[in-house]
Amino acid sequence: MFLVTGATGDLGRRIVRSLRGRGQPVRAFVRLEARYADLEQMGAEIFIGDLRRRDLIERAVRGARYVISAHGTRPGQSIAEVEYQANIDLIEAAQTQGVERFVYISVLGADRHYDDAPVFKAKREVEKYLTRTPIPYTVLRPAGFASNLLTLARNFERTGFYFLIGRRENRTSLVSTDDLSEIAIQAASLPEARNRTFAIGGPESLRRDEIPKIFEKLFNRAGQILQLPIEAFDAARTLIGLVNPVISRDLGTLRVLLANEYTCDPHEVQQVFQIELESLHHFLRRNLLYST
Ligand SMILES: NC(=O)c1ccc[n+]([C@@H]2O[C@H](COP(=O)([O-])OP(=O)(O)OC[C@H]3O[C@@H](n4cnc5c(N)ncnc54)[C@H](OP(=O)(O)O)[C@@H]3O)[C@@H](O)[C@H]2O)c1
Repeated sequence: MFLVTGATGDLGRRIVRSLRGRGQPVRAFVRLEARYADLEQMGAEIFIGDLRRRDLIERAVRGARYVISAHGTRPGQSIAEVEYQANIDLIEAAQTQGVERFVYISVLGADRHYDDAPVFKAKREVEKYLTRTPIPYTVLRPAGFASNLLTLARNFERTGFYFLIGRRENRTSLVSTDDLSEIAIQAASLPEARNRTFAIGGPESLRRDEIPKIFEKLFNRAGQILQLPIEAFDAARTLIGLVNPVISRDLGTLRVLLANEYTCDPHEVQQVFQIELESLHHFLRRNLLYST
């Protein structure tokens, strides 16, 4: 039995569907108000709860052989509670229950000491905690998900505009969310992935201004980049901080994402997981033009 947290998120939903597609038993940890009927229909066991409740985590982990932690904070949630404490509770419960592998979805750059970015900090602390426990683990540090671009691509198709904050030269290795799902599933049982940490990016290292070029090709229409300097973001953040310091602090994660480069060498992952990583163009074409 797999336990998947964040089962209604972008990545978690793909993991659950894929596991069910291959007939694997899976328990999906979902919130009461989330949309999970499709997961139930596919035969996933639905566990309704809130990851801020340690007692519910302990119940959810019972009987699980593998845990895939794929949840994340939604806007307005406490990063300390959801990103940090819920993972610590999950790891402790997994240890008590003798779980065979704990797969943790971290983030590329978790080890870069971005101290202004609460999510990066929390993930680094969870990684530290996990790798010191006796429980067998795999840490996956993905770059940005290709699925984050689906809404931007649809907007581009309608308006021809692509909105970009920060330097257009910065590079990123966006990863196909479907490839990441496949890697997370394999990581649960692959001996070569035991007690290892992997940086997961796509096959290409793209400049940020190459992304709208891919949209142009995809939709066969010319586009225009609307660019704002990072200083404009900083000014807005400072103003927000005067009204709401918590939101301003949390925006540190977005700033770190906007201002830095996220690339990695795909070869190790391709070799260990025997996977041919999908290009961004291919992912978008499959999800936008051929999805039902
Ligand atoms: N997106 C990226 O580009 C990216 C890049 C690198 C790493 N990551 C990491 O990858 C993981 C998955 O990201 P994602 O984009 O797939 O996440 P997402 O779409 O934002 O989904 C978050 C999931 O966590 C669940 N969740 C949040 N708070 C919860 C709570 N208190 N109790 C139970 N469930 C809760 C949400 O439930 P609801 O549906 O009910 O809200 C949802 O299923 C995260 O750890 C994220 O930090 C993401």
